This record gives sequence, structure tokens and C-alpha cells, in this order.
Amino acid sequence: MEIKLRPYQFSDVDDFREWPCDDQVIRTSRLSSYTSREDALDYLKEVAIPHPWYRAICLEDHPIGFICVKPGSDYEICRGQINYALGSKYWNKGITTVAVKLVISSVFEEFPDMERLEGVVNAEIKASQRVLEKAGFRKEVSVNELKMDKFNRLEKFYNSVLF
Ligand SMILES: CC(C)(COP(=O)(O)OP(=O)(O)OC[C@H]1O[C@@H](n2cnc3c(N)ncnc32)[C@H](O)[C@@H]1OP(=O)(O)O)[C@@H](O)C(=O)NCCC(=O)NCCS
Repeated sequence: MEIKLRPYQFSDVDDFREWPCDDQVIRTSRLSSYTSREDALDYLKEVAIPHPWYRAICLEDHPIGFICVKPGSDYEICRGQINYALGSKYWNKGITTVAVKLVISSVFEEFPDMERLEGVVNAEIKASQRVLEKAGFRKEVSVNELKMDKFNRLEKFYNSVLF
């Protein structure tokens, strides 16, 4: 099973919907769903393709999830934040852990100002914490935060920061 990362293209639109149309992914994360083909194309055009570092996690060159790194700016230029999701039929096969390790092997070269890569995970999403632990991240702090959730409701998040 060969896992590769590459930028999304518009021709990926049908494969791209693997995660945003997956109820299990949306239910267990803060990600939003994009159920129509048109919404998916807009997301690729406005978010994924112009993003500084947003990659498709590919199995046999078909995207089955995404992984992205948001580099910090100004005084946070030395920090980056990692995020990811995978279609639920591929869960628990070690795929995201491989993808995170691939990111680590290249992202510091691509962003020479970045010294630290952080994952901020909802403490209740054990699989996501485990992915980061397996890739070598260490838990630094747990914080309670009040934030608007994806439905614009104020919600308390218990986050763990790993780096
Ligand atoms: C989080 C996510 C990306 C993990 O992807 P994945 O490819 O299944 O991850 P891996 O297979 O590399 O590793 C998963 C690990 O979590 C463990 N795990 C899964 N569910 C678990 C649970 N409920 N409690 C504890 N551990 C759990 C697995 O056993 C595995 O660990 P192991 O190899 O030690 O057995 C995937 O579940 C997902 O897309 N979830 C929805 C989106 C999301 O939460 N994104 C993260 C935002 S912070």
C-alpha cells in the first residue's frame, strides 16, 4: 500500500468528496461537509488549491483524504499547524500516520522559518492524538477553549497541543 502526498487538482473533484461527504468524518471533527459537486469545486478553488500547503493523501494516486500545514505569519512565523482527515473506510490502517511522517520529512525544508509543527486536537478524538504520538509528537499542554463551532454555536473545546 503506497501512500503519497500531492497537491489537489480540479480533476480530483469526485475523489475529493471522499471525506467531506462522509458522515463519520464530519461528525467526529470540526470540518464542514461539502455535499454537492459544485460546493466541492468551490472548496478546491478557494481553499485547497490556493492554500500554502494543502495536499491530497493518495492511495494509488486517488485522493482519500487531506493533510495541510498552515504556516504562521509575523511573530508566529516559526510555528506551523497541521490538520488532516481521511475517508472513514480507510481508518485504522496507519495511513494518516504515514502521511504525517511524510509531512515532517519535507515541511521544514519547504518553510525554512518554521521551527515547530503543532497539532491542536480535540482531546476526545483519541485517534487523532494517537496519530500524532505515533509520528513522534509529544503532548505539551491541554487547554479549555471557548470557540464557535461549525454551526456558529459557542462550544467548549478541550484541546491538546502536541508538537
Ligand atoms: C483522525 C484520523 C485522521 C486518523 O486516521 P487513521 O489513518 O485512521 O490513523 P492511523 O491508522 O494512522 O492511526 C489511528 C490510531 O488511533 C487508534 N484509535 C482509533 N480509534 C481510537 C479510539 N477511539 N480510542 C483510542 N485509539 C483509537 C488506532 O488504534 C490507531 O492506533 P494504533 O496504530 O496504535 O492501533 C481519522 O480518524 C479521521 O479522519 N477522523 C476525522 C477527522 C479528524 O478527526 N481529524 C483530526 C482533526 S484534529
